[in-house]
Amino acid sequence: MNMNIYIETYGCQMNVADTELIKTILNRAGHKVVENPEDANIFFMNTCSIRENAENKIIHRLDNIKPIKQKKEQFIVGILGCMAEKVRDNFIKNYPIVDIVVGPDEYRNLPQYIDKALQGGKGIGVKLSRVETYDDIIPTRDNNLLAQISIMRGCDKFCSYCVVPFTRGRERSRNFDSIINEIKQLAEQGYKEVTLLGQNVNSYRFENKDFADLLEAAAVAAPKMRIRYTTSHPIDLSDKLLEVMAKYDNICKYLHLPVQSGSNRILQLMNREYTIEHYLRIIEKAKTLMPDIAISTDIIAGFCTETDEDHLATLNLMNAVKYDGAYMFKYSPRENTKAYKMVDDVPDIIKTRRLQEIIDLQQKHSLENNQKLVGQKQIILVEDFSKKSNNYVIGRTDNNKSTIVELNGNIKFGDLIEVEIEKVTSATLFGKYLKHVE
Ligand code: SAH
Ligand code: SF4
Ligand code: F3S
Repeated sequence: MNMNIYIETYGCQMNVADTELIKTILNRAGHKVVENPEDANIFFMNTCSIRENAENKIIHRLDNIKPIKQKKEQFIVGILGCMAEKVRDNFIKNYPIVDIVVGPDEYRNLPQYIDKALQGGKGIGVKLSRVETYDDIIPTRDNNLLAQISIMRGCDKFCSYCVVPFTRGRERSRNFDSIINEIKQLAEQGYKEVTLLGQNVNSYRFENKDFADLLEAAAVAAPKMRIRYTTSHPIDLSDKLLEVMAKYDNICKYLHLPVQSGSNRILQLMNREYTIEHYLRIIEKAKTLMPDIAISTDIIAGFCTETDEDHLATLNLMNAVKYDGAYMFKYSPRENTKAYKMVDDVPDIIKTRRLQEIIDLQQKHSLENNQKLVGQKQIILVEDFSKKSNNYVIGRTDNNKSTIVELNGNIKFGDLIEVEIEKVTSATLFGKYLKHVE
């Protein structure tokens, strides 16, 4: 039976990319993906388990779709993604509303699990794979300017706080040539930007090729497209990669390099494998090779045993790097991880205070860095109308700063335009249109 399916996506960009693969798999099986849950008879949530509040969101959402299920004769609810992998069949035990539970490596079998649910059973598929990369499945993309490609799946790093190696399994890289062919196709279809995705892209390896080789081949294959990538791990980021970034104009000068903590003691407990000294050497090298590069990071506040001194080390590190942006979190213990066995001994009130200090400092740095751009010329790729008004458009600079520009008759989505930055906040630049660039 062909069904109308609605998919809601939570979590990181990998999940967003997976939803695009899932759409292709469902379309191939004859189902239709719809934009509104009210029109659907199957409701999927592609879920995230990274922190407790990510999971709480899913549980809360399950509660508030109950009325839809009660209204409809047929309404199948499915949990996909990382939380499906983590909670497994307990989902069905604990939440009778759930009919399907399918983890990240079993999406190919989704049509069979749907059939099972339609016959009144429960569809459960949570096996992880060492080889699945969905290499032959072209994602169904909604956006026709910006694309993302998962170049690898899983993670072998086992940072002690992190659930990803358990929800996404072992690291595996997608075929080199097929990635490059997909990028060429995107360029032919008129895409303007592609982001290469992986939990730790720096450990990409296919035959004798590494991530720097892949990035270089991507830049050459699509010379008119902007190329971005995320995420990097400081222990695997090579000088060769920074050199490739510096060499090609179409590789964006933006580096997301999660540090997690400024304290070597905490980094060791986190199993991050590098020291702050090593981290700072990479930053210095990146800035020397690419003076305009923007750098962002991830920081966890209040990891097990973190003292005021450790916290101060994080603030000091932030002062040394002056990040352009950061994703900042309170430590949240996750089952199965190594840190789960440690004592989560930093009281929530202290975690909250430290996190706030980190956020405040980051806002200050973001603003200061942006203020340096006032009066400068920047090139932005026009992506969409601004959130607040259709008289303005939004795009990002090469180094990933969101920029708002007043619309004029010439500007279309997908254009590269030069703007002069007139004013800034910590999160946004405001620019004046100067001219189009080719
Ligand atoms: N692979 C990427 C992203 C991992 S998840 C990387 O290594 O950077 C994104 C971020 O979530 C991590 O960088 C980390 O800062 C945060 N995170 C992961 N597990 C967490 C936990 N248990 N509690 C709080 N934050 C966590
Ligand atoms: Fe998690 Fe560490 Fe892997 Fe990132 S590198 S996904 S933080 S285990
Ligand atoms: Fe969340 Fe899974 Fe991504 S846990 S952050 S959706 S890899």
